[in-house]
Amino acid sequence: MNQNIINARVTFRNSPIHILEQFIIKDIKNAYEQFRNNSELEECVIIQTCNRIELFGRSKTCDTDKIKETWAEITGLEEAAFDENIVCAENQEALYHLLKLTSGLDSMVLGEEQILGQIKNSITSAREAKASGRHLNTLFDKAIRIGTRIRNSSGIGAGGISVGSMAVKLAEENIDELKTKKILLIGTGEVSTLVAKSLQRRRYTFDVTSRTIGRSETFCETMGGSPIRFEEVLGGFDNYDAIFVATTAPYFLVTNERITEAMKNKSQGMMILDLSNPRTVDEHVATIRGVKLMNLDQIAEMVEKNVNARLNKVKTVENIINEEVSVLEASMKRLDAEPLVKDVFKNIDDLREKQLQKALQMLGEQDEKTIKIIEELTKAVVESIISTPMNNIRKASEQGRPDVVELAGKLFDYKKHEK
Ligand SMILES: NC(=O)c1ccc[n+]([C@@H]2O[C@H](COP(=O)([O-])OP(=O)(O)OC[C@H]3O[C@@H](n4cnc5c(N)ncnc54)[C@H](OP(=O)(O)O)[C@@H]3O)[C@@H](O)[C@H]2O)c1
Repeated sequence: MNQNIINARVTFRNSPIHILEQFIIKDIKNAYEQFRNNSELEECVIIQTCNRIELFGRSKTCDTDKIKETWAEITGLEEAAFDENIVCAENQEALYHLLKLTSGLDSMVLGEEQILGQIKNSITSAREAKASGRHLNTLFDKAIRIGTRIRNSSGIGAGGISVGSMAVKLAEENIDELKTKKILLIGTGEVSTLVAKSLQRRRYTFDVTSRTIGRSETFCETMGGSPIRFEEVLGGFDNYDAIFVATTAPYFLVTNERITEAMKNKSQGMMILDLSNPRTVDEHVATIRGVKLMNLDQIAEMVEKNVNARLNKVKTVENIINEEVSVLEASMKRLDAEPLVKDVFKNIDDLREKQLQKALQMLGEQDEKTIKIIEELTKAVVESIISTPMNNIRKASEQGRPDVVELAGKLFDYKKHEK
């Protein structure tokens, strides 16, 4: 490929949640600027979810050290921190990984739908920030379409369990008679919706809280549960035996102090499931007697079991991705030749039109039918002369021959005016 596609990622596969959160990029707009200015990336897209921080870039060079340097500068981490956590991939391998992402194969919960929405949001915001361009926009549009098709044809997500239902399952496994216990859900976003759905399905009663009581009320109207004021909860954690926390708060909502206080008034234990990343429950609460804390890492372990049970589907999807990746790679390589081909077609057509008008004027031809025939003739001649060399240029580009494309550019006096 004349242009390289690079992927650099830190994900739950190599890094536990408390490490992963150190790599989070807080100011994405600024990061785009830095990656483009300092890492020789001509385009880039950042995908950031609770399980992964990923960068896709387009570059003439493939300097992953520069990417690490910039990422370290943005996050304030030592470059050495990347050694054990970062995975880098180039070209075909990077495309393969993107298809694994869009088809749900790399998700913590195999085949889950949320990642597709998150990738769509990432490319939309990269487009808006003008961080992505023709190559990455095309790549992501194609990868999203292919991923959707793979999901539909393989049924990889069908019957799968969500992060929410896994958390509820974990609570059931760890708390005797959960039905008789007081359950609290903090948060009213996407993940909370999944938790609430699962609690509802299993007929549990639960309270729901978020910063504004209005949000909780609206949430409970559709998802079930009883709304409760946030302030009331913060002062009264002792009312609850199981607490699910799924917010994007940038600090600990459930602090060591609050839980220590709550446990003074409780005769039985408490389980807290923190589904947030960055975590919103202080991990020190795990040291308080009677408190059991679980976070996304434990959920990941459960997912492993889930994956093992569905290995057949994984193999099928991997086979489809293997076939799709070479088609995707060829069309990405062809993209390198497209501006030249388009330019040549346009220039030749302009010339044809000019010469046609000149000839018609000289002939003084007025008959519409005759004019149409002459016009079609000029088009057919141009098409038959130019289509073979243009297809050969596209083919050369597909076969990774930028030298041929460059030479053709010189022959047709093509001036690059796009990035
Ligand atoms: N989406 C996934 O696939 C996924 C999977 C596993 C884990 N997670 C993690 O789960 C967490 C929630 O994700 P999500 O997708 O549900 O997010 P979301 O849809 O954006 O919802 C965020 C929730 O956090 C609340 N919130 C934000 N700032 C807060 C603060 N300072 N104090 C109290 N509440 C606050 C919001 O309440 P308001 O309405 O008051 O703003 C909202 O209820 C995140 O940490 C995410 O990383 C996500």
